[in-house]
Amino acid sequence: MTIRGRLVIAGAALLGASALFVSQGAAVADPHGSTERPSPSQSTSLRSLAAQSGLRIGTAVNMDALASDAAYKAIAAGQFSTVSPENVMKWDTIEPTQGTYNWAPADQLVAFAQQNGQLVRGHTLVWHNQLPAWLSQALPSMSSADVAALLKKHITDEVTHFTGKIWQWDVVNEAFNDDGTLRDSIWLQKLGPAYIADAFRWAHAADPKALLFYNDYNIEYTGPKSNAVYSYVQQLKAQGVPIQGVGFQTHLDTQYGLPDLQNNLQRFSDLGLKVAETEVDVRTTLPVTPVEQNAQVAGYTSTLQACLAVRSCLSYTVWGFGDAYSWVPGVFAGEGAADIYDANLQPKAEYTALQQTLALAAAPARDDRR
Ligand code: G3I
Repeated sequence: MTIRGRLVIAGAALLGASALFVSQGAAVADPHGSTERPSPSQSTSLRSLAAQSGLRIGTAVNMDALASDAAYKAIAAGQFSTVSPENVMKWDTIEPTQGTYNWAPADQLVAFAQQNGQLVRGHTLVWHNQLPAWLSQALPSMSSADVAALLKKHITDEVTHFTGKIWQWDVVNEAFNDDGTLRDSIWLQKLGPAYIADAFRWAHAADPKALLFYNDYNIEYTGPKSNAVYSYVQQLKAQGVPIQGVGFQTHLDTQYGLPDLQNNLQRFSDLGLKVAETEVDVRTTLPVTPVEQNAQVAGYTSTLQACLAVRSCLSYTVWGFGDAYSWVPGVFAGEGAADIYDANLQPKAEYTALQQTLALAAAPARDDRR
């Protein structure tokens, strides 16, 4: 085919996509019986366009911003069809004092999601970070049996509290090192590798309908870490452990280039697993040059295309949407601008890239995505 031929086809696809902007779109089935049906007034929103490909598009939500910033709240409600708690389902928020549960912030997010026809990704049950101080202090001197009992209680209590309200749970988060070995976390030290399978079994017992995910970063690139996680989840599946999915966090940085994400998603999918992009953002050095922003646009576009190309990729979630609320500057000095809206919540070229990618992909809804 000539280049001109390709451009004509691309142009036709764009025209078709434009036509879809004003259509009702198709309903997409979800596991809780509601439907994601774009309304005409919202028909260029990310969620509306994504629905036409049977894809859920999500964001992490900062509960302080949701409470205090009306523009933030409107975007969170209008643009996304799933939400993830950026912090409020982590152990330090849920159980700040042993035996005293603080469900309120997470309950507020679940209520917000229900009001706005959104599904919820639960994040996260077992992690080495954001543990409450009482737990970090107690763990080193506890017996393995006591640690196992405590972890089981945490998972059981939290999953039970939200039973029927969580679409996908990140059950275990970031258990591997970049070299493919298991992270030397307090969980590994106390319980050995079996803690991973046990966590999935305990979560499944508490909510058999939730989709249970292993979630990690730097597994978007093929390499030691991705290969190790691949082998590990393959073994879990072979042992009958109730794991249904793998989450690819997808925190990209323009200095490292683009991952071969579609191939990676596909090979995990071929194991019989669902996959999802769970924490997408693309950071760069500040101030952002036009070249860097082009790279950021390419990062968002290509990662979304990868999810769209893999049938079992259920959702594409950005880790927040406004640069003013991003976690990046606090962790990577001199970097930022990682999100799809600027610090004033104005959409950036990155937003438009997602919109256009979704419009081009719009097709009859695939109702088997869950
Ligand atoms: O809540 C306290 C507040 O009481 C205190 O005054 C303040 C002072 O620093 O800290 C507040 O806690 C902060 C918390 O976010 C809530 O805002 C922590 O310091 C801060 O470290 C924490 O950062 C979060 C980070 O996880 C912790 O590891 C980020 O918001 C959150 O975006 C980030 O998310 C992680 C995912 O869960 C897993 N994958 C990587 C991703 C990015 O790091």
